[in-house]
Amino acid sequence: MRNLLDILDLNREELQRLIETASDMKEFPGKYSHTCEGKILATLFFEPSTRTRMSFESAMLSLGGGVISMADAVSSSSAKKGESVIDTARVISCYADIIAIRHFKEGAALAAADKGTVPVINAGDGGHGHPTQTLADLMTIYSEKGRMDNLTIGIAGDLKYGRTVHSLISALSLFDGIRLVLISPEELALPPYIIDTVITPNHMDYIESRSLEEHIGELDAIYMTRIQQERFDDPSAYERLKDSFILDRSLMESAKDDCIVMHPLPRVNEIAPEVDEDKRACYFRQVANGRFMRMALIKMLLEEAEKNPAEKVIGLASRAVRMPEAEAGKHRCANERCVTFTEPSTEPIFVTDDGEHYRCAYCDKALAL
Ligand code: CP
Repeated sequence: MRNLLDILDLNREELQRLIETASDMKEFPGKYSHTCEGKILATLFFEPSTRTRMSFESAMLSLGGGVISMADAVSSSSAKKGESVIDTARVISCYADIIAIRHFKEGAALAAADKGTVPVINAGDGGHGHPTQTLADLMTIYSEKGRMDNLTIGIAGDLKYGRTVHSLISALSLFDGIRLVLISPEELALPPYIIDTVITPNHMDYIESRSLEEHIGELDAIYMTRIQQERFDDPSAYERLKDSFILDRSLMESAKDDCIVMHPLPRVNEIAPEVDEDKRACYFRQVANGRFMRMALIKMLLEEAEKNPAEKVIGLASRAVRMPEAEAGKHRCANERCVTFTEPSTEPIFVTDDGEHYRCAYCDKALAL
């Protein structure tokens, strides 16, 4: 049984196969309308969502399956009475064949998968990751550009808290000839752990910049992101940074004719509505792709669960060496946003890529030894 907790739980070949399946589903939806008959998807959302929850539900219904849903799990589930993420997932495993969970705590999906008994999909965990948004992003890049190698991709906005950015950069590390132009205010720069664990070990070509104007003409794709108001401890910092980058018609005049404009949405001010009419703006096509990629993912995970119901694969631990349990039990993750920080019943898991430096498997933050 496999989960999708981190986009790197999938390899390049699997990502390409998912895109092929999703493209076929988009062209011939009738072929798949009974694929998941008799199966139930639970959507368990502890944070607001329009696209992710609705597209998961639409995906499962399009596959002939059923859906049970909690849209506002913070106030309407027994989490309100103090039930842990782990217990909640165990309980939902009794009612559903697959779970999509969104939670404000980093690593919540891993906590759910570690003790749950059905495949778990991370539908966004705090400021950490959002792998199924990346599936939509990759299908969009492939369908719009015809390739996923040899591209210069600008990512602009909130690179610190923007979880879609973190997952996208991880996925792009699997492809060749990617050049990243990381554009953000200094306070919202990409977290060092992503540079240390993804960009540097994969020898990715990247620059950091404070100016979209300076680089827009070099880009094959611009990935705009919202400043993540809900992650700020200081509201005045949000007010100061919220309009750092605004892509409008006049700035688009400096972009290449075939430069695509992407955004995971929702947008606030960072793309002027006038850009929507530009043929290079593909963020609504990106939304549509998300539904088909989620269909392909649900099909894949349910088929794998049927083949291997007993064997549980926690992806993060499989791509790095896990600290022995007895040793891990002596440490706690120091990240206040990590699920292990607030839910002490969560088993600590630390992993290493080089045998020397360890990071928390839930939130990827470095462990100070
Ligand atoms: N892109 C995305 O995650 O949108 P929602 O928050 O509406 O699900």
